Amino acid sequence: MTLTGDPRRWATEPGIPGVVHVLNPYHGIQRGWDTAQVALARIEETIQLEGPQTIAAFFIEPVTGTNGVLVPPDGFIQGIRDLCTKYGILMVADEVMSGFGRTGEWFAVDHWRVVPDLITMAKGLTSAYVPLGALGMRRAIADHFQDKVFYGGLTYNSHPLACATALATLQVYEDDNLCDNTRRMGAVMKELMAGLQAKHPIVGEVRSLGLFGVIELVKDRQSMEPLAPFNGSSEPMNRLRKFFRDEGLYTFVRMNYFFANPPLIITEEELRHGFDIFDRALTQIAG
Ligand SMILES: Cc1ncc(COP(=O)(O)O)c(C=O)c1O
Repeated sequence: MTLTGDPRRWATEPGIPGVVHVLNPYHGIQRGWDTAQVALARIEETIQLEGPQTIAAFFIEPVTGTNGVLVPPDGFIQGIRDLCTKYGILMVADEVMSGFGRTGEWFAVDHWRVVPDLITMAKGLTSAYVPLGALGMRRAIADHFQDKVFYGGLTYNSHPLACATALATLQVYEDDNLCDNTRRMGAVMKELMAGLQAKHPIVGEVRSLGLFGVIELVKDRQSMEPLAPFNGSSEPMNRLRKFFRDEGLYTFVRMNYFFANPPLIITEEELRHGFDIFDRALTQIAG
């Protein structure tokens, strides 16, 4: 909770000491995106001010999930890798949401050919049929614990049922080529999202990578004021949520945005059906 940039952190503060947050390249719908170079320069400045030798690890969601499917500009993730290597900092990729084909590659970092030092995994690891989280790491880090105690533990550490579920799930990802399907359907989804943006003035920005997508809503295109405040809701967003439910469409609606994160097995017909509901919902709340 201390690590996250999500506002749910506020309730748990002051949290653990020694955590410093840095800005990502996205500053919200009104201020938009920095280039990779600008964002990286700011992060390098923070590293220097904090003292690189005092920094054990740098945690990042390569494509930030719940906080808005933030697909970073090309060069950003590579730049974070380079900064970590330059200053001897371990790079930890949090792929709990973005892992296991969600973005059209096994892991989001694969889009930029980046290898982190540690990688966190959960949700897609078992397709959520059984709860399981995992941490992958470079051999040298694992070897450290050959003769040193890892001071931690879990009741259900490596639970056989969960591990068997993960193995079976991974087999399905491979046998059914779900990364391929995600890339194909992701291309269709990109077009459908662009269609929503072209048609509805309340759509401020759409972002997606594979089947990981978000639609951000604004009051109007001139002010680009979000349709709900940061960490808040609003009457139109609540109406949108209700419309989706009434139509039998279950998706995550948060602040001024809603997600398009369909199952990786989705067909084009099903995807178009879902977007038809999005389309009608946007017409309804704009009217
Ligand atoms: C990106 C990300 N990291 C970490 C977590 C926490 O994962 P877990 O619930 O497996 O501890 C979540 C949970 O929703 C998440 O979305």
